[in-house]
Amino acid sequence: MTAYVQKNRFDRLLNNRTGVSTVKLTVSSTASMMRPTSVMQDCERAQRISMKADGYYAANSQPQQSDVERALPLICETAEMAARQTLSANVLVADFGCADGRNSRRLTNAAIQSVRAVRPSAACTIVRNDRCENDFNQVASVSQGNLEATAGTFEFMSSGSFYKQLLPTGSMTLGTSFSAVHWMSRIPETLENSHAICREQLTGTEAEDARQVAEGDWSCFLQHRAQELASGGCLVVSMVGKLASDSQVHSPFRLISEALQQLIAEDVVCPETQDALFIPVYRRSLEEVVRPFEEDPCLKECGLTLTYASETEVACPLYSAFCEYGDVGRYAAAYVRFIRALAEPIVKAAFQQTVDEPERCMEMLFERMEQLVQQAPESWKLRRTQVLVAAQKV
Ligand SMILES: C[S@@+](CC[C@H](N)C(=O)[O-])C[C@H]1O[C@@H](n2cnc3c(N)ncnc32)[C@H](O)[C@@H]1O
Repeated sequence: MTAYVQKNRFDRLLNNRTGVSTVKLTVSSTASMMRPTSVMQDCERAQRISMKADGYYAANSQPQQSDVERALPLICETAEMAARQTLSANVLVADFGCADGRNSRRLTNAAIQSVRAVRPSAACTIVRNDRCENDFNQVASVSQGNLEATAGTFEFMSSGSFYKQLLPTGSMTLGTSFSAVHWMSRIPETLENSHAICREQLTGTEAEDARQVAEGDWSCFLQHRAQELASGGCLVVSMVGKLASDSQVHSPFRLISEALQQLIAEDVVCPETQDALFIPVYRRSLEEVVRPFEEDPCLKECGLTLTYASETEVACPLYSAFCEYGDVGRYAAAYVRFIRALAEPIVKAAFQQTVDEPERCMEMLFERMEQLVQQAPESWKLRRTQVLVAAQKV
């Protein structure tokens, strides 16, 4: 495994490589703020997707961690099959959307163990991918701490969107992606004047435009992975899905929205903040996930075939713990930390564009969210559907 120097700034190296610079944000000095215009280009908004850095995501992502744990039998079985059925001397395992690497390490360690069971002397490479804004310093330190568990394995980081080809054609033995492909590649242009903060608050053509972006994203993700996979290689993908019977707005986003509206009503935050904030997540149904395998001619041509598909409504580990210990304050704090871990950078960018004291107002938002959960924990309970699929390039 490559030994990384802890103090190096991997985030800078990886950002420079892709030529992406930080978006310059404007903060107005007046109390009621400007309507964001040019800084609201879709690509800039979408570029703010990243998890909260410095280990915060790792410490506050128990629901995502549980998704990995539940999928371990499938990951191990699929890794073993891929290792048996690919011909190259080397094994390459890539995890797409790895965040700070802790949950990623859990699944790649399990995959490598299964590979070693059938190909003990194969040279193994692990590639951890995420967007260039990701905290790759954390990924590097996780890799460093993982040296013993994966002796004889070479580990690399890849920055860039997984909606592009990231690895050489035919090089990948096993590809994985957990809790990541529900993040959309971009925000549709038509959302410019919408007050919605997430897709499930959209209606009419706006909702349809977002659906189309998500549909294209999923096909695009699969097509690129199909290119990268070696013949016989496999893919395991888990994402946050949506049951047909679930008509509610995803509760974390509903909670942000409710707290924000209260702060707007109290004149703490200006109404424009709502326009500047959009969390580009699309929860797919199992049917939407399976469709490209049946209908996309590119996937048929590449030979990418679905081998497993399921959707499961899963218990939220934070809520289960609350039911056990019964401390509502502790539950509310843990739930809001979980939301901050995945949404704070996006919320922060919206506040920086529209309010005078973004840090203070953002803290007020998170405090209000905590209060709302404390008042009615049952109404904000996280309903989570895990959609899990596996595929093989035949
Ligand atoms: C909720 S985290 C999941 C992290 C980890 N896989 C886990 O299971 O805990 C989603 C990750 O996907 C990444 N992501 C979102 N869109 C992406 C894209 N287009 N390309 C690469 N990574 C992306 C985010 O930056 C984030 O780190």
